[in-house]
Amino acid sequence: MFGSQWRLLLCTVLIGAVIFELVCCQKDAQQRTTPGRKPKQHKAKPGKTTNKEARAATAKPKIKATPAAPAQTVLTQVLNKGKFKKVGETISVQSGDTLELRCRGKPVQWSVPPYLEEDDDGRLRMVQHERYGALTLVNTTGADTGEYTCYPMYCEDTDCRKEYNKAIKVFVFFPDPHELFVPSSEYYEVIQLRSNWPTVLPCQVTSPEAKVTLHREFPPAELKVDGSEISFDVRKGITIHRPRVHHAGALYCVASLGNLRQSSTKYMLIYVNYPMAPPAPVIQASSGSVAVGENLQVSCSVVGEQNVGVEFTWEYPGQQIGRPPYTQESITPVGGGAAGQKSQSVLLVDEVREVDQGIYTCTAQNLQGAKSVSTTVKVVSKAKPKKPQIVKTRK
Ligand SMILES: *[C@@H]1O[C@H](CO)[C@@H](O)[C@H](O)[C@H]1NC(C)=O
Repeated sequence: MFGSQWRLLLCTVLIGAVIFELVCCQKDAQQRTTPGRKPKQHKAKPGKTTNKEARAATAKPKIKATPAAPAQTVLTQVLNKGKFKKVGETISVQSGDTLELRCRGKPVQWSVPPYLEEDDDGRLRMVQHERYGALTLVNTTGADTGEYTCYPMYCEDTDCRKEYNKAIKVFVFFPDPHELFVPSSEYYEVIQLRSNWPTVLPCQVTSPEAKVTLHREFPPAELKVDGSEISFDVRKGITIHRPRVHHAGALYCVASLGNLRQSSTKYMLIYVNYPMAPPAPVIQASSGSVAVGENLQVSCSVVGEQNVGVEFTWEYPGQQIGRPPYTQESITPVGGGAAGQKSQSVLLVDEVREVDQGIYTCTAQNLQGAKSVSTTVKVVSKAKPKKPQIVKTRK
């Protein structure tokens, strides 16, 4: 067991120490980080239209099926009275101002940042008009920054469904003079650094103009955002493209704009060595047919990547009479250099009895999945030609 589990354990201990430090310094963090988004409130105020109701309203259109020629989806921003602007990929609306979007179609459905969908406080309104749907968000804050999508609906009588391929998205920034980061309700966020998958640190800025850098807490250092190993996307945050062990630890983003400089929530990155695929075990019994009283060995082996832990579990006939699982596990390097390793579990059955006859199943598991393999072992009577029945009747 010197594989990834060991390293994971060590890493967990280190992270534990860091979390402890974090809890100690929460007061400090409270002063430094901005207050989180308001706690979730699910009460719907009477008399006001909630998101869900608004969405339900658009889902049950009174208008009949759309005419044959499907118009191109158009999303526009209503600037002032009577002034419209077709939106591009992103727009900025000063926080405090009203966001008003119109999307051509009858009807349309909207999707908004998850936080807005959960915490409806009456600032968001979605209304379906004869030819377009309108979304209005008032008293905006930096926290409203995110993706807004309009889905034209395809209807047959009253049965409507979203036309995903015609969806039109716009990323809306709400630059906030006091909040460079979209506030988070957490003081820190634990993120798995999977060896086979890019990791995203969602430090989302409220202004597309903010300069963002990445920092390590212990020891304090700035990590280079070079655009290839680590990149920054103003709509997503930081991406670590090929996570490695050395990326693990406590990281945070810093945004600066004008003379404002703020730190994001902390991200606790825990490295997990993910294998490329589930294990492919091979099972083999020392003999397919064993005489009573002899010893039996069933081995199960997996050849895989180095430092990827494999866990073995066994099912065998003797389990029913409470034979204790008696296994020997080993890991040996194969293929020379850092090519791979062979993990093996050997199930040992001493002095075989008749009850040991049957199917032996080994299940090998790694972080990507599990696979089982089986073999059948026959138990034959001891070579006692004189009285073979005695063995049988002894049960
Ligand atoms: C928006 O803010 C104004 C002024 O603070 C307030 O009177 C109004 O009720 C707010 N509207 C909503 C829908 O929250």
